[in-house]
Amino acid sequence: MPGTDNISNSPEKIYRKRVRKITRNFFLHIHSPRIYPFSMKPGYTFGLGIVLGFLFLIMIFTGVLLMLHYTPSVESAYNSVKDIVHVVPGGRIIRNIHRLASHAMVITVFLHLLRVFYTGSYLGGRYVNWIIGVAMFVVVLFMSFSGYLLPWDQLSYWAVTIGSNIAASARELTDLLGITGILDIGGFFQRLLIGSETVGQTALTRFFMLHVIFLPLTLLVLTAVHLWRIRKEGGLSRPVAISSRETDKLLAWPMLMWVELSIFLSVIALLVLFSFFIEAPLLEPANPSHPENPAKSPWYFLGIQELVSYSAFAGGLLVPVLFLYFLVSIPYKDKEEQYIGVWFSGRRGIKVLLYAILLSVFTVCVQVFVMVRWGWLRNWFPDISQWFVMLVNPATITVMIFAAYSVYIRRKSGSSRMAAISLFTSSMVALIIFTAIGIWFRGANWEFVFR
Ligand code: HEM
Repeated sequence: MPGTDNISNSPEKIYRKRVRKITRNFFLHIHSPRIYPFSMKPGYTFGLGIVLGFLFLIMIFTGVLLMLHYTPSVESAYNSVKDIVHVVPGGRIIRNIHRLASHAMVITVFLHLLRVFYTGSYLGGRYVNWIIGVAMFVVVLFMSFSGYLLPWDQLSYWAVTIGSNIAASARELTDLLGITGILDIGGFFQRLLIGSETVGQTALTRFFMLHVIFLPLTLLVLTAVHLWRIRKEGGLSRPVAISSRETDKLLAWPMLMWVELSIFLSVIALLVLFSFFIEAPLLEPANPSHPENPAKSPWYFLGIQELVSYSAFAGGLLVPVLFLYFLVSIPYKDKEEQYIGVWFSGRRGIKVLLYAILLSVFTVCVQVFVMVRWGWLRNWFPDISQWFVMLVNPATITVMIFAAYSVYIRRKSGSSRMAAISLFTSSMVALIIFTAIGIWFRGANWEFVFR
């Protein structure tokens, strides 16, 4: 009938149809049917959260395929992985994609955390999601770490052995107090992780269960709550000026779906492309009596391993715990909502950020230089008490300098947000430098090497 087309395509009908597309679909309804144009700016989120979600899905999919051929026993794990690489059709590529996706997830979760912090997106009642995010950050690290052991080759065996020694770091303190015999906290954490004093079948079974069931399920639940909270909080963070302008909202369908689809396809395309060139390593089968030298933990824990080389307790327990405490406490200490949704909180924040970067580079590099060139307390005073070595080393000094500087910034600027930017930035830069030292500048016997 003439005119019917006009009625069925009236703006109101199209509007309702598009809203229904989102709300009636089980998978799509995690999105709000209407979104702020600001949230679609690529330079605001960089799509990092979505990339993370897709990487997680790809890891589950490739992980299930790998599991069809993998055997979690010390006798056959190595050979089953070798078969996946050399015998199973497409096995090599699937394994490469799985490994690449896991490294990409660690890097992306770190970048996502930086973007959320620097846009002040924990403000405006978003503190619960920030804390859930910190938990997700830890779970992502452990998901990757637990997968590390599964190939049961020299690399994985010694990396996890180092990881389990880091878990036992509290022993330095309990040994000094002379109470390890009655209260062995380090030993408790080590046994919790690997089931005994050394990495063996119990550790492999534990890591397998963590990697394929416990941690993915935990991450799945946390992701669901994370996304639900974003909807409950009225969408992504945005500057205060935009908050009330409801009329600016866009319909999510179909534009957001096209954007997400193109991100998804790009992530897959990149992973497939790189999987042809970057091989997941598989060294000789694990040999517990022949340590690798240097034995290194996975790269994302090398910053901690570097700190542990100064003091087990300070580097393996004290500093990581303080760091997590700091991350969790940020939204409780800083409530300056005027900075929400503004990258680096404007010019003043950028200035604070640059000074914090300089401070961090200077503090870490000077101490490492002194240590490499002239040694540290134990070299200067061979009989010095271990208490001094544990409490006065580059790990603890760095923390104290950063904390003191952020208190100074707080007083000088009168702003908790500026103090948070200072402490967060200096800590992150130090973490990156210590990790880089661990990756590129440590050789046999953990000697400093300059290639
Ligand atoms: C596997 C881990 C994670 C996944 C899958 C994930 C997913 C997402 C997604 C899809 C978004 C919305 C889009 C975007 O911001 O790109 C988001 C936002 C958010 N994420 Fe995450 N995230 C993860 C980890 C984290 C971490 C480590 C933190 C911080 C500690 C965090 C805190 C937040 C917050 C506060 C928001 C709201 C941001 C805003 O309102 O602008 N997330 N996340």
